[in-house]
Amino acid sequence: MPLDAEFRTLGDLESIAERATPPPVWAYVQGGGEEERTLRRNRRAFAHWALQPRMLTGVRSVDLRSTMLGEPVSAPFYGSAVAYQALLHPHGEVATARACAAGGVLAMFSTLSSFPLEEIGATPAGPRWFQLYLQPSFDDTRQLVERAERARFKAIVLTVDVPILAVRDRQVQGGGVAIDLPQSLGNGPHVMTPGRAPTFDGKLYRFEPPADADWSILERLAHHTSLPLVVKGILTAEDARQAVEHGARGIVVSNHGGRQLDLAAATLDVLGEVVEAVRGRVEVFVDGGFRRGTEVLVGRALGARAGGLGRPLVWALAAGGEAGVARWLDLLKTELAMDMALIGRASVAAVDGGAVRRVLSSRDPEYPAERRSQGP
Ligand SMILES: Cc1cc2nc3c(=O)[nH]c(=O)nc-3n(C[C@H](O)[C@H](O)[C@H](O)COP(=O)(O)O)c2cc1C
Repeated sequence: MPLDAEFRTLGDLESIAERATPPPVWAYVQGGGEEERTLRRNRRAFAHWALQPRMLTGVRSVDLRSTMLGEPVSAPFYGSAVAYQALLHPHGEVATARACAAGGVLAMFSTLSSFPLEEIGATPAGPRWFQLYLQPSFDDTRQLVERAERARFKAIVLTVDVPILAVRDRQVQGGGVAIDLPQSLGNGPHVMTPGRAPTFDGKLYRFEPPADADWSILERLAHHTSLPLVVKGILTAEDARQAVEHGARGIVVSNHGGRQLDLAAATLDVLGEVVEAVRGRVEVFVDGGFRRGTEVLVGRALGARAGGLGRPLVWALAAGGEAGVARWLDLLKTELAMDMALIGRASVAAVDGGAVRRVLSSRDPEYPAERRSQGP
């Protein structure tokens, strides 16, 4: 079936991707930490917010353009870093880079990409950032940063929420750990997956995070690059302040798509406090459970500069490679434009706090019992 006939709405995408993907890879992509409570929370948190439609506003056209750290983008959403994209499609990150550049949408590429970052950077230019995992030796970390700058990436996104890898039940049960991941690494055989499993000496579990993994790493990295540094994986106001004080130019509120600490907060539930803590000094981005145009608007209204999407990007890649990602970006932009018209906002800058209100969902424990039977 032609892609457009099958992939008619954003709601079609996940099942198309599942049919195209071997079960162990699907378990790896879909899974979260332990019992996946945070994974579910990310989606459910949207039920706490309602968009406010506005009437007779005279809005006749909508402009989705914005900037991310000064980089012009065609829409206030982006493709987040997802490792090992060749597991989903043979062209992997190269297809993602081409489709996102053609669509003017920012894409973030993982240290653990299937293709070398130079090959990704050699595709037609587009807004793209390099996602960095700290390596056991600072020299290897520095080399990755320097390579990314030479390959025309526009920012370094340091992911800080994987000092060790969480236990992921679904991945273990679904055979996802059997995938020989390191063999598909593009950035060199020496590049390490962060957070190897702890070792147990009979009394204590020992982890091996890089020796320089404290906040001063930001200053250290800044000596080796002129690119802005973004810190990804922040969930508290305190850590957001630390990041800003140590020189970060951007923060990504993220729980790694529910793949790390289970029972961590939904990103949408802590976004407001992070935005408040940084007081406009840096740009704040958010990811975790974003799927639809309406949801990008909620993130924006709560103070995020743009919303990141991880799994949907690779679902689109699995569905149709470069054409699949291009189709996904078109559908998401169209939907976002419709939603902006319905809330009476002609530009991204006009999507402010007044676009949303907090509501109680009938699933909330605080929801009054007497209203439960009539609840939404
Ligand atoms: C299969 C998979 C691999 C990922 N790999 C990385 C990675 O290498 N680096 C990183 O910073 N985040 C990684 N992430 C997290 C995403 O960048 C993003 O934070 C998350 O997917 C957002 O949630 P969503 O999938 O609900 O959109 C990965 C996510 C998935 C699903």
